[in-house]
Amino acid sequence: MSISIKTPEDFPKLRVAGRLGSELLDYLTPHVKAGITTRELDRLAHDYTVNVQQAIPAPLNYAPPGYTPYPASICTSVNHVVCHGIPNDKPLKDGDVINIDVTVIKDGWHGDTSRMFIIGKVAPHVERLCRITYEAMWHGIVRVRPGAHLGDIGHAIQTFAEDAGYSVVREFCGHGIGRNFHEDPQVLHYGRPGTLDELRPGMVFTIEPMINAGRREIREMADGWTIVTKDRSLSAQWEHMVLVTEKGYEVLTLSQGSPAPPDFVREFATAA
Ligand code: MF3
Ligand code: CO
Ligand code: CO
Repeated sequence: MSISIKTPEDFPKLRVAGRLGSELLDYLTPHVKAGITTRELDRLAHDYTVNVQQAIPAPLNYAPPGYTPYPASICTSVNHVVCHGIPNDKPLKDGDVINIDVTVIKDGWHGDTSRMFIIGKVAPHVERLCRITYEAMWHGIVRVRPGAHLGDIGHAIQTFAEDAGYSVVREFCGHGIGRNFHEDPQVLHYGRPGTLDELRPGMVFTIEPMINAGRREIREMADGWTIVTKDRSLSAQWEHMVLVTEKGYEVLTLSQGSPAPPDFVREFATAA
């Protein structure tokens, strides 16, 4: 397996797909409130992707080897659900946190991004987990530049999250992306500096740490998709797609509604 290098002709299409993914989250945001079900959010996302964006929801019927086809257009992972939560008929309630993970296909290119949403008023420790996970993702992103190694990204995320008292999920990782939903490389959210592949301009991959308040171990539910923390502790996740540029990185999954990067992100590269 090898890591594909995207060319300058590919970049505009990747930028469009990434922006559409982020704009889908913007569109959902005012609906993510107590009382709505994740099935209703899925319906809204599906219809917006297909009818407004004229794009394809990549998760719908996605079936990697060993998996049954995914039955919805988005992943909705509530509280102790780590990732790949399947939308259902249970209403969101005050105090919940939810990760919504979307991927759209536009003109053959994928845009994959996720955010955390807080429902109503949550305890300070819950807000802290969401914020630290967002910062952990950005600690990984700012390492991205030619000559850096994938292990630098994982190490930055792991040390930041563990110093905050949390654990990093090992079984799922970021991934190369482009014409395929998931391609090489695997982008681990833990590791050692200077190890694994060296980054080169034109590589495109996601950084999407899953951080648990408790222990890092996970379990898969009987539906074959939903991943939960084994100790039922809270879990949070954020996801961006990044392009390795000549000088550093470009975040591809940005839009009007994207939260600002944390203060420590000084050289914040935007599109073009
Ligand atoms: N969007 C997820 C990721 O970040 C993948 C979800 S696969 C699905 O890689 F089938 F559950 F949608
Ligand atoms: Co995703
Ligand atoms: Co992803």
